[in-house]
Amino acid sequence: MPDTNEHDSYLLGVNQQELERLQFQHSVWGHVTRKFFDRLNVGRGWRCLDVGAGPGLVTMDLRELVGETGEVTALDPSQFYLDCLRKQAADKGWTNVTCVHGTAENTTLPSRYYDFIFVRWVIAFVPDPEQFLLPLFNALRTGGIIAIQDYYYEGLSLFPRGGIWDTIPDIVRAYYRSGGGDAYVTGKIPAIFRKHGLEIADFTPTCLSGGPTSGVMEWANRFFSLHIPLMAKKGVISREQADALMADWSAHRQNPDTLFFSPLVVDVAGIARR
Ligand SMILES: C[S@@+](CC[C@H](N)C(=O)[O-])C[C@H]1O[C@@H](n2cnc3c(N)ncnc32)[C@H](O)[C@@H]1O
Repeated sequence: MPDTNEHDSYLLGVNQQELERLQFQHSVWGHVTRKFFDRLNVGRGWRCLDVGAGPGLVTMDLRELVGETGEVTALDPSQFYLDCLRKQAADKGWTNVTCVHGTAENTTLPSRYYDFIFVRWVIAFVPDPEQFLLPLFNALRTGGIIAIQDYYYEGLSLFPRGGIWDTIPDIVRAYYRSGGGDAYVTGKIPAIFRKHGLEIADFTPTCLSGGPTSGVMEWANRFFSLHIPLMAKKGVISREQADALMADWSAHRQNPDTLFFSPLVVDVAGIARR
């Protein structure tokens, strides 16, 4: 049974429903992550660190890429998620997948060790992205790559426009701020990389789009049907706003001509040049 109180300060929480949402999310967005890895030539023998790995969906993909001669470490503050990953790795008979319990800010990592550090959908939740990244920069070998996938929270919309849903981007940004995070975080990353001597190797935004039966609209549905009520509970929006948003969302889901556009997810990578 998951520990629902685990890591309470983290906005999205840790529980079975969130685990299943993350799995579905990977089925929709995993191809974007895999293309990012292809552009960076992640391959056999690499030493990788998956930061904020959650249940290890990307950790498992990385292990496929690095093979038996590489290694993958998953770092996460959730014991529940790490236990799921341990079980999957054991089922595969993989001995070069390691789980570390902790946060990026508070874990002692080996110095100048990793070829590749990956951070997907984590850094938008942290209060200080630079403090989060500094120990990771130190853990990269010279020539190693740090790659981040996260939001630049523009683009989220429904067509036809004209309803209360048009206000949702500002509401989600405020929701992230309410948890101490920043939904525009990827805009800050190139400056942080430059300040600490990393060369920017990639900056690629992606918007996915589809109608009511698409995976990407179902992905959004799983997020918003859970989190719009929580936004009202937290006081980010009123109860009336929450009801009106859900009614507009439902009406769009029932219209076969609807188009959903995701917020931008940016792939940003830097190379340690020291
Ligand atoms: C939205 S999930 C993403 C999981 C995974 N990266 C993926 O893409 O499927 C965010 C994860 O970040 C972890 N997390 C939150 N704050 C963290 C921190 N300061 N350092 C490391 N991980 C953190 C959470 O426990 C959670 O597992």
